[in-house]
Amino acid sequence: MIATTNGTPVSITGLGWQVPERVVTNDDLSKLVDTSDEWIRERTGIRERRFAREDEALSDIALPAARQALERAGIAPRDVELLIVATVTPDMVFPSTAAILADRLGATEAAAYDLSAGCTGFMYAIAQATGMIGAGLSRNALVVGADVLSKIVDMTDRSTCVLFGDGAGAAVIEPSSAEGFIGFELGADGAGGVDLNLPAGGSRLPSSAETVAGGLHYVQMNGRQVFKFATRVLVSSAQALLDEAGLAIEDVDVYVPHQANVRIIDHAVAKLGIPKEKVVVNVDRYGNTSSASIPLALAEAVADGRVREGDTVLMTGMGAGLTWGSALLRWTEAS
Ligand SMILES: CC(C)(COP(=O)(O)OP(=O)(O)OC[C@H]1O[C@@H](n2cnc3c(N)ncnc32)[C@H](O)[C@@H]1OP(=O)(O)O)[C@@H](O)C(=O)NCCC(=O)NCCS
Repeated sequence: MIATTNGTPVSITGLGWQVPERVVTNDDLSKLVDTSDEWIRERTGIRERRFAREDEALSDIALPAARQALERAGIAPRDVELLIVATVTPDMVFPSTAAILADRLGATEAAAYDLSAGCTGFMYAIAQATGMIGAGLSRNALVVGADVLSKIVDMTDRSTCVLFGDGAGAAVIEPSSAEGFIGFELGADGAGGVDLNLPAGGSRLPSSAETVAGGLHYVQMNGRQVFKFATRVLVSSAQALLDEAGLAIEDVDVYVPHQANVRIIDHAVAKLGIPKEKVVVNVDRYGNTSSASIPLALAEAVADGRVREGDTVLMTGMGAGLTWGSALLRWTEAS
């Protein structure tokens, strides 16, 4: 799917983020598995990540991020009309974490649901929210991208446990007086789903003593295949959207790619031809926070002044599905 927005301008009017307190360094992980700080930094660019406490679930991390975004947008929880949580690590299979979060926030009037598109979830969710608002079906939306991957990664598997971290990012989306979202490009290749999945606990392989013993409730990943996919779609998705919007790469002021791995980001940056100073990178401090990665990076970049009034922001995510998605946004301070 590729489309540019038309009609009512819709934009982000408030951002928030939250990461758990517990910092886990590469040296900490080298006490659990046969790895080293040097290997992890060289192959991924990650220095440290945050892990939730044992008693901390997704909604505990999403709640402060959501509150912050609402405060910044000046919206009371009871006025939220649509609440989407993009995640692959909900508090439980059902009810949705969005419904749990709506209750904890006091967003009593909101339609609330979770969205599963792997690390691309936030991109899908902001596209949906923009469409709903643009069509007049909702006056606003609170979109949360959040994951606690540490809960579903095998801490004895060095090929996955070093990559991920926990976090939450949130955005309030509303009609805007200025331009806001310019367009989206979203896609999925289910045939590649086997390269990044969590096999058990669904209706295909219900939970059993055997699935637990087989480690099938943990993330399974074919790292090389995912690497190839990621480097391809980060470039093709961004280029397709820029073409559709009639923009060139030179028109992009800030690039916020999915924070999976510095090597993947560097590859995309080189292929797209974006100067490094325009690229937002925080994977070194947080690892791959899945659905939280893009909103977390965007919120930090806005907070420290790297995104300014009128800037054209390009965001591209990719992840389990396999899925990918890009958004172009003209940033407005009023937003
Ligand atoms: C996972 C990834 C970093 C591995 O890097 P790589 O250069 O492809 O490494 P390889 O898979 O070729 O493995 C090379 C060696 O390092 C080893 N290795 C894997 N993880 C290791 C670790 N944490 N520490 C030390 N060695 C490790 C492998 O066992 C392999 O050893 P072998 O050659 O003896 O078999 C890389 O494939 C990647 O980033 N993939 C994308 C993952 C991703 O982003 N997933 C989420 C998408 S949303």
